Amino acid sequence: MEKKIGKIGVFTSGGDAPGMNAAIRAVVRACAYYKIEAFGIMRGYEGMIEGDFVKLGARSVGNIIQRGGTILKTARSEEFRTPEGRKKACDNLREEGIDALVAIGGDGTFNGLHKFFEEYQIPSVCIPGTIDNDLPGTDYTIGYDTATNTAVEAIDRIRDTALSHNRLFFVEVMGRNSGYIAMNSGIAGGATAIIIPEEKMTFDQLYNMLGANKESSKKSNLIVVAEGSKLGDANTLAKQVAERSSYFDIKVTILGHLQRGGSPTYFDRVLASKMGIAAVEGLLGGKKDVMVGIKDNKMVYNDYSSILSEKYHEIDAESLRIAKILSI
Ligand code: F6P
Repeated sequence: MEKKIGKIGVFTSGGDAPGMNAAIRAVVRACAYYKIEAFGIMRGYEGMIEGDFVKLGARSVGNIIQRGGTILKTARSEEFRTPEGRKKACDNLREEGIDALVAIGGDGTFNGLHKFFEEYQIPSVCIPGTIDNDLPGTDYTIGYDTATNTAVEAIDRIRDTALSHNRLFFVEVMGRNSGYIAMNSGIAGGATAIIIPEEKMTFDQLYNMLGANKESSKKSNLIVVAEGSKLGDANTLAKQVAERSSYFDIKVTILGHLQRGGSPTYFDRVLASKMGIAAVEGLLGGKKDVMVGIKDNKMVYNDYSSILSEKYHEIDAESLRIAKILSI
């Protein structure tokens, strides 16, 4: 007979995302509800290797649902990539009596946990928490909605000054391999062009969209560029446009890490709450090596092997289509 789960360890790992605290809270409160002990593991895999555990009860996660960042801190651990590091982590978990794990993070976090499960069979559920929205198996990741709203707010502000000075702005948003933040902040912010890694666009195409010197051209334009753009980053593109034409007064703004912080939106708080509870209920129901997701507004469990084979969350074709129509 399978061992009953009595203690769950929860941790955050990789880049932080707004809503991670709401997910921690949901995991801990679900544990309290089902009368299981909850332990926070500090600094992700680093804390697992060092045995840095903290007992959490329903009251210890009060007043965090609205806070950005992660109360458990986060790290990207090199040591956990080694068999020796994973062995230390497993020994510490066993010593503490932690018999299941919930990880909140992105694909790097989950790949580590999948390997760990294969080696030590400690049941685990992953919760997708990253602003990039780049994970397959879920329509949304925790933090993406907040980060996109932050980018839209910044773009609106930049638009005010761009219009006042008749300037062309290149605004770079985050998204290492994914254009989700760029695509939707660009549509919502009324961008002239949106440059994302998933779509092939040539520099000439971009340049033609600006229509330098043509009668219909506007001097004030906003181009949203995803950090992972294959065409070049915002600075490079701005330089190339300036080299080709002196028509525009060009400025560049890189939004960077400000997109990672801040109070989560209602959407991210609710998503994180649902996913946290689904993670604990999944473990209690016998799930072992899965990622929770939201598909068509319903919680789903994805076998981790299916996540590995899909690799990325494709950008949706409808968004690409409407962005083109709107940029006319
Ligand atoms: O994965 C989330 C993300 O914010 C990416 O958009 C970005 O490329 C990366 O993390 C930045 O990572 P770091 O905080 O380590 O610089």
